[in-house]
Amino acid sequence: MCRIAGIRPLVPNSRTAPIELQHDTDPLSGLRNTLHAGDNDELFGKLPADSIDLLLTDPPYKDYQSNRPVAHDKVKKICARDFEARPFFDQVERVLKPGAHFYCWCDHLTFPGLVAALEGRPTEGLRYKNCLVWVKNNHGAGDLKSNWAPQHEFILFACKGRARPIESRRRGNVLYYKDDEDRIRFFRKVSNYDFEHGTVKPIEILKILIEMSTAPGELVFDPYAGSCSTGEAALACGRDYLLAELDPDHARRGDERLDEVRRALSGKSRHSGS
Ligand SMILES: C[S@@+](CC[C@H](N)C(=O)[O-])C[C@H]1O[C@@H](n2cnc3c(N)ncnc32)[C@H](O)[C@@H]1O
Repeated sequence: MCRIAGIRPLVPNSRTAPIELQHDTDPLSGLRNTLHAGDNDELFGKLPADSIDLLLTDPPYKDYQSNRPVAHDKVKKICARDFEARPFFDQVERVLKPGAHFYCWCDHLTFPGLVAALEGRPTEGLRYKNCLVWVKNNHGAGDLKSNWAPQHEFILFACKGRARPIESRRRGNVLYYKDDEDRIRFFRKVSNYDFEHGTVKPIEILKILIEMSTAPGELVFDPYAGSCSTGEAALACGRDYLLAELDPDHARRGDERLDEVRRALSGKSRHSGS
C-alpha cells in the first residue's frame, strides 16, 4: 500500500492524507510507515518531543552540491534552504527519545562542522560518540592531479544523553564484512543510475546501523530520504519508518520503491508460512 502523507500533498492521491496525529497510546501511530512529500521542517514541527527511536539521515551539504557539478542545478532547485547543522541538530535533539541514537552521513569536509555543532549542549542533549568509516570498493575522481582519491565516507554517530545499549553484536567502526573464505570485503557503492538519485546509500550498511540501534517494531526517521534507502532498510529489518523528501520526483519514485519492497517482503513471509 502506498503511504505518502504530504503536509501539502504534491501528488494528488486518494491515499495521500494531511498529517493528523492521533494521541492514543502511540502518539506517532498515524505516521508510522509514511513518506512525507515536502519540507522536513514542517514534519519536524508536528512531531512530539522524545518520540523517535532512531534518526538516520544523509543531508544535502553545500560540499555535496559543489562537488557534483552535473547534478548542481537539480540539487539547487530541490534545496528549500542551505543546510545548517546547528538548527537541524536542535530539531533532532528535541524529537529523539532520551538515549536514542543518531547517525548522520558526511564526508571529511563536512565532519568537523558537524562535530562543532554538537559542542556546548547539555549532558541530556545530543552528544558526539564516534565516527564510522565506510571504505568504498572503488574511489571517486576529485582533483586528479594534486590530491588523494576520495574512497571513504564518514557516518557521525551521536546519542541523546546517555546512550541506550546497542541491540546487536558490537562491531568495529570501520564497516566491512567477511566473505565465505574469511576475506575482508567492502560494501559496494550504489550506481548513480540506480533509483535515479545521485547519493544512494548501501542497504547493507543501513541495515547494520538500524539493527545496532533499534529493536524490532521501533521507528526510524530519515528527514532527507532521497531514494528512500533508509525506509527499505527499516522494512527489511522489521522496523517502522518515517521519511520526508522535498523533491516530488524522488518522493514518487521512493514511494514506488517502498511499495515494491513491501510486496517482496509479504511474498517472502507467505512462502515461509509466517
Ligand atoms: C543526500 S540526499 C539523500 C540520499 C539518500 N541517503 C538515499 O540513499 O537515497 C538528500 C535528499 O534530501 C532532500 N532534501 C533537501 N532538502 C530537504 C528538505 N528541506 N526536506 C526534505 N528533503 C530535503 C533532497 O531532495 C535529496 O534527495
